[in-house]
Amino acid sequence: MMMVGEIKVTRTKASRIAEVDFDNIPFGRVFSDHMLVADYSDGAWQSPEIVPYGKLQLAPAMPTLHYGQAIFEGMKAYRNADGKPVLFRARDNFARMNRSAERMVMPPIPEGIFLDGIKELVRLDVNWIPNQKDSSLYLRPLMFASDDYIGVKPSDTYKFVIFTCPVGKYYSEPVKLWVTREYVRAAQGGVGEAKTAGNYAASYYAAKQAQDRGYDNVLWLDGQDHRYIEECGTMNMFFVIDGVAVTPELSGTILHGITRDSAITLLKDMNVEVQERRVSIEEITEAHEAGKLDEAFGAGTAATISPVIEIGSEEGVLQLKPDAERKIGPALLKQLTDIRRGLADDVHGWIELV
Ligand SMILES: Cc1ncc(COP(=O)(O)O)c(C=O)c1O
Repeated sequence: MMMVGEIKVTRTKASRIAEVDFDNIPFGRVFSDHMLVADYSDGAWQSPEIVPYGKLQLAPAMPTLHYGQAIFEGMKAYRNADGKPVLFRARDNFARMNRSAERMVMPPIPEGIFLDGIKELVRLDVNWIPNQKDSSLYLRPLMFASDDYIGVKPSDTYKFVIFTCPVGKYYSEPVKLWVTREYVRAAQGGVGEAKTAGNYAASYYAAKQAQDRGYDNVLWLDGQDHRYIEECGTMNMFFVIDGVAVTPELSGTILHGITRDSAITLLKDMNVEVQERRVSIEEITEAHEAGKLDEAFGAGTAATISPVIEIGSEEGVLQLKPDAERKIGPALLKQLTDIRRGLADDVHGWIELV
């Protein structure tokens, strides 16, 4: 065992890296050699430890399993064109994690555990960052209630874990989204903008119905009027209407996507007008009928910038242009990728060498 700063490190005796086919990595099923674990007890975070990736021992009474007091983040480490590991806007994920923690009545995680832990883990498992195009090391920090008690109240103890997965593309094909007016993902005053477990479980029923119809995921509408576009299960949404990029405003019910924020900034850099505002499914349908819906795409860490090729609903199907005929989404993806690879200037200070 060795110590790095405050972090105890126990290295694996048997790396699994030789077993991995980096050209064919299924998303989220391959885990790097190490993980970080830290416990919160007696009102304080205890020293984090890096240990070989493996199972945790948990009590069946643990409130996370019953009431879902659990939050997480999703971020990526990339290899730049010089082969060096870099993080993208890690501080923004750190800030969002702690906003989620506050909303779910969980203790804030200190920077020395979250950010230093991620950097240490990435350094240790640096060989797990794929070199392949469209590939990266997905980083999954999570925190959950770990009491041995089934009372309905915030836990007194928590576990914070970071594990990492080499990943390729999340969507290998352009995405097809199904609009539901029946189910909602989040409502005003709820936890929609927290990155908390229950938001995802709550979406599965409608997502399954979308998938049964041949769609990849749901395009969620607002919980009050069932008209205004919110987001998709894994991505924030953008629509290019007559040359203007429109994205739903941060209403309290959608995730404050870091890719969304990067996309808004880069689109403005590219002199594309961006509007953050309410946008209804009727407006999208009318724009499509008038031949003015130039593009629709999703923005997310896992999904990057993913073209949406079809939007289906009980009212009909909107078929969109293929990627090859689009200008804005592909240019945005290229700029984002070039910044991460160090091939375009990082004028916004998003990149951090690990
Ligand atoms: C519900 C939801 N919306 C949007 C996003 C995109 O957020 P980000 O760009 O920060 O990854 C995600 C996550 O990845 C998500 O889970």
